[in-house]
Amino acid sequence: MTLLQELESRLGEAVAMVVGEPVATPVTAVADLRFGDYQSNAAMVLAKSRKTNPRVLAQEVIDRVDLTGLATAEIAGPGFINFRVLPAAYAVRAEALLRDDRLGVPAVGAGRTVVVDFSAPNVAKPMHVGHIRSTIIGDSLARIARFLGFRVIADNHIGDWGTQFGMILHGWKTLLDAGALEADPITELVRVYREVNAAAKADAAVMEACKAELVKLQAGDVENLGIWRQCIELSKRGLQRIYARLEVSFDHWLGESYYNDRLAGLVDEFLAQGIARESDGAVCVFSDGSRKPGEDPFMVHKEDGWTDNPAVIRKADGGFLYATTDLATIQFRIDEWHADQVWYVVGVPQQLHFRQLFEAAARWGKTGDFRHIAFGSILGEDRKLMKTRSGDNVQLTDVLTEAVERAAAVIAEKNPELPADEAAQIAETVGIGAVKFAELSQNRLTDYVFAWDRMLALHGDTAPYLQYSHVRIRSIFRKLEEPFAAAGCKVVLREDAEVHLVRVLVRFGEVVPTIVDDFRPNLLANYLLELARAFHSFFEACPVLKAAEPVRSSRLALCELTSRVLREGLALLGVRVPERM
Ligand code: ARG
Repeated sequence: MTLLQELESRLGEAVAMVVGEPVATPVTAVADLRFGDYQSNAAMVLAKSRKTNPRVLAQEVIDRVDLTGLATAEIAGPGFINFRVLPAAYAVRAEALLRDDRLGVPAVGAGRTVVVDFSAPNVAKPMHVGHIRSTIIGDSLARIARFLGFRVIADNHIGDWGTQFGMILHGWKTLLDAGALEADPITELVRVYREVNAAAKADAAVMEACKAELVKLQAGDVENLGIWRQCIELSKRGLQRIYARLEVSFDHWLGESYYNDRLAGLVDEFLAQGIARESDGAVCVFSDGSRKPGEDPFMVHKEDGWTDNPAVIRKADGGFLYATTDLATIQFRIDEWHADQVWYVVGVPQQLHFRQLFEAAARWGKTGDFRHIAFGSILGEDRKLMKTRSGDNVQLTDVLTEAVERAAAVIAEKNPELPADEAAQIAETVGIGAVKFAELSQNRLTDYVFAWDRMLALHGDTAPYLQYSHVRIRSIFRKLEEPFAAAGCKVVLREDAEVHLVRVLVRFGEVVPTIVDDFRPNLLANYLLELARAFHSFFEACPVLKAAEPVRSSRLALCELTSRVLREGLALLGVRVPERM
């Protein structure tokens, strides 16, 4: 049980005694320490529904609550109950954390299966910096869910089937550079795609040629299928390189094409069950009238009022769509993987698609907890969508390369004595960590401004700051003559800075489960920054190696615990810590 849960349960017992029945008594951590460590407004909520005086009720609860050995309680303002945890109780908690591999994090996901659908770039289209958000947020959520005990299936639903293949096939046959393809498949495929795209816009004959290639592919033409397969293999190889560098991994890569042979049957089923109907030759899912227009994803408001906004699942020409594939994918994930939840980490522009998808799936009897985890755009420092000088989308690999170069410069300045290969390794860890952390410390829904100097600052709200904090702690242990065994260590807390450090340490187990309530890794990022700040205040106020026993061992144990929480917390964000910096 976390400290917060323990306070909730003790408060719950007292409230039940006072009002004569069990009621929910939520407790929250307090940001401003002048008000104690934790707080509850339960008495205020109860007093309102019972029309009694909240302060009187709060006082009755405080008189009854048994907080022996744990905390003191006092009434505040209009009827808040504030708790101040006893240093001795914090010491006991810290000792328990030292023996706990999970660092106090409860396994709230145990017994549940979640599919995390993230990254999902489109083959032969550039994987630009916008995809970075899905990849980094999704990977972090998958790591967090795994740590919380969920059975996690990370699935890369790549766009490997679509109209872009008409252009790629035409380009492959007319302007492919085999050497360039071998050296860097993604760049060459993207070049081919871009050139054909431009040519098709200028010349209707090229457009027709592309369409003809696509029709042949869809009809099962052997040559085109062969080229298509090669494109996928090459793209995957290129993508793997990027994922390896980011240390992102997937359990499956079931792209859109995996579901091709299920689509015709699916549409027939939708028609037979009356979930979809024909409209101008196409097959569409319409509103079933069960929701208010403002909440109905199949209705849209236009000048002359509410009108239909159906999801097309088969075009008049017989072709299937993105939505059709996603429906087949939901069925597969539920039937084959027994998914209880599916988390789709995809940008805001696809909001309508997912609302329609979840609604259509529900009507089809596919029930589960489906979430669209949306995110905003990445902006350049001029606050416009991030572009290269030539106006193209910025590519992810270029971002990573530049991040590592800039990190190398920071490290060379800080620590010029490091051997070159170690410095290069550290630069990789710091540069990539900085990009990930900058992303994850933002509220995912706000557009985020990509600012190099800010994300690499050693003394800012950055990965390098946290990595450096970790390095500093480890350097304390390097000075010891014999290895330090933290487990079983007695924790004594005398200084305020010590108590505060433990206060933050025990909150790790409270913060991590809340991340998946609303999919906000930034809660963890902010927590880690707070922990590092608490550590630095402690380290300034409290000598460690020079202290006398038992304080010395106790402080070493706090250092150990801080470094473990920093390392584990950063790992949950997909950020590594270097040994030195
Ligand atoms: N390939 C799509 C895109 O880049 C994202 C796919 C997301 N996943 C899904 N199941 N629809 O826009």
